Amino acid sequence: MVNFREYKIGARFFGLALGGSMTITLFMPSFDLRNVNATEVALDKQLWAGHESGFSLDDPFLTGEHRPVRVTLKTDPKTGQPMASTVAYVYPAGTPLPNGVDHPDNLGNIVEQLSRDKGRIGEATKSQGAVFLLSSEPQGDGSKQFYIENASATKGWNPEEVMKAAGDENTYHASYGKAIFVREGCWWCHTLLPEETQDWQVFGAPPMLGDFNGESPTAFGSDRKAPDILHVGSRNSSREWMMLHFFNPRLVQPHSIMPRFDYLWGPIDDKGQKIDFDKWRAEYNEYVDGKRVTPPEVPMYASNSDARALIDFVLSLK
Ligand code: HEC
Repeated sequence: MVNFREYKIGARFFGLALGGSMTITLFMPSFDLRNVNATEVALDKQLWAGHESGFSLDDPFLTGEHRPVRVTLKTDPKTGQPMASTVAYVYPAGTPLPNGVDHPDNLGNIVEQLSRDKGRIGEATKSQGAVFLLSSEPQGDGSKQFYIENASATKGWNPEEVMKAAGDENTYHASYGKAIFVREGCWWCHTLLPEETQDWQVFGAPPMLGDFNGESPTAFGSDRKAPDILHVGSRNSSREWMMLHFFNPRLVQPHSIMPRFDYLWGPIDDKGQKIDFDKWRAEYNEYVDGKRVTPPEVPMYASNSDARALIDFVLSLK
């Protein structure tokens, strides 16, 4: 005879647990995530990443179309006079606005109100583009309350002028870089989520509630096979190291299992010369076999290459 007793107990407990959790969900709505105020981290992240920084209908082939850039300004874009270094987030005309500007109720009440009243985010339009700042207001207890400022409304800055004032060397394509992170499947191995464990000591602090308002997609990753890189830019800020490591990780970590991403350089280097990948790999193999003393030089990437955008993204993870 088949005895169904254990099965029945399991089914009843399952029903009880499901019923209990549904009761809490339906009748005790005490907690609405949208009421959590966006932190400085969340505001910075959604401003540089933009509306969507993974697969997106505005950039279906993931070639970097319609993406904001982050710039560091050292001169005032209106007057050309030197000014204290200022980070601005530039949305050229046609770029979808950041989530918090399109849907301010996702910022949390306090941040929403400041961003609307002082930051004038309601005046930003996708068709004209806009320049945003991460601004703050001192609080009574000495802390700062951060909000989004639409500098196109408050200062009359337009995207073209700001990009010109910053110049290419002070422009970071982190939004497109994040799309490459999603496209290339870096998340198969890397997480962007240190946990509440010994992780703290190696990978840095876990994120806080409010650090994700407006972020899409979050790209946490799940099954970690490689270091967590949420804060990698804090422990390694070397562009050269990143360049060698992406071209061929074995140049800097001899036993690394990370694939090489040399194809993100594209066909030409920064001087417009064709990159001879076959020759490079042949020479690299000679080096591995001990027939050469040094590995071949890694070509400098072109300023509009995927490699540059990916490194801009990785170094922005602080
Ligand atoms: C097959 C798994 C795998 C994939 C896919 C992969 N990585 Fe890695 N990655 C590793 C491993 C393992 C390490 C540690 C050894 C090393 O440094 O190469 C690493 C190291 C790194 C580091 C240095 C981490 C530190 O703590 O200093 C960065 C940055 C990085 N990877 C970024 C990326 C990016 C960006 C991509 C996608 C373009 C990617 N990785 C794809 C496995 C992977």
